[in-house]
Amino acid sequence: MATQRTRQPIERNLAMELARVTEAAAMAAVRHMGMGDKELVDQAAVDAMRYTLGYVSMDGVVVIGEGEKDEAPMLYNGEVIGNGMPPEVDIAVDPIDGTTLLSKGLPGAVAVVALSARGTMNVPGNVFYMNKIAVGPDARDAIDIEAGVTDNLRNVAEAKGCAVHDLTVIMLDRPRHNEMLAEVREAGARVKMISDGDIVAGIQAALPGTGVDMLLGIGGSPEAVLTAAAIRCIGGAIQCKPWPRDEAERERAIADGVDLEKLYNTDDLVGGEDVFFSATGASTGDLLKGVRFMGGGAQTQSLVMRSRSGTVRWIDSIHDFSRLDKIRFED
Ligand code: FBP
Repeated sequence: MATQRTRQPIERNLAMELARVTEAAAMAAVRHMGMGDKELVDQAAVDAMRYTLGYVSMDGVVVIGEGEKDEAPMLYNGEVIGNGMPPEVDIAVDPIDGTTLLSKGLPGAVAVVALSARGTMNVPGNVFYMNKIAVGPDARDAIDIEAGVTDNLRNVAEAKGCAVHDLTVIMLDRPRHNEMLAEVREAGARVKMISDGDIVAGIQAALPGTGVDMLLGIGGSPEAVLTAAAIRCIGGAIQCKPWPRDEAERERAIADGVDLEKLYNTDDLVGGEDVFFSATGASTGDLLKGVRFMGGGAQTQSLVMRSRSGTVRWIDSIHDFSRLDKIRFED
């Protein structure tokens, strides 16, 4: 029975299969790097991701996808993917986080996918942005998005056994962050501004040894769920609050029954015990090397994780296109 199945642990490490999915998406998207066309980059990644996800043995439903069915022919919210066999899972995709980066050939674009048991991924409907704060395992109990920036910095520094001026905060470079940025600077922490890609930023904040201690600021809601999936595996914490862009969005959200005051913890965004995550570098960035083509093939680097074991894997792969084509042809 379906309900019994979902309660059982997912024994297979689906993250290993997801690595093939994000590798394929990154390799397809990078073909269009620097062409100045973010839609083209995204479409190539979507096509490759949809094709490879179809080969994962699962009963999957896209929860965080490319939008509604009429505007997104593939990977739309509600699309059923897989061969219908257990496990029953929710799927979150961001075929390329950083489409603008990749369309300009800038560093840090990645292909991302996450799975968790059916019914465990949540995002507030009709609110496209969330305010976010994320940290790693050592500071997971020290953050409070309702408190001020200075208090959070002090508490995180204390939890990490360092001073505020030892901390590095990563933020999207956006005018909406001017006040927050001034407060971080005033408190004495260092800042790393990025032009795009707050999933990688959240992972950097959570993973030890990246030189980044905290993610702050407003970014996409789908990206919040994918960041939460990664953080479930790493063991840190993310807190988010819906951030309507204007009065019209606020009113629409309220009419839809969205509680704009609700605080989303890591587990609210992605719950359950079985979370699987994979990201592959498209353009080389701080976290992941991008796709490097060579005669007849390519090299990729991926970050592959599973919540139940907490294993974080870096997978370097060499792809031989002539043999891959043969397998595809035989399929
Ligand atoms: P895309 O790849 O979809 O363009 O997203 C990039 C991104 O920087 C996300 O990482 C981030 O959450 C969001 O855009 C921020 O939105 P905005 O650019 O509107 O501030």
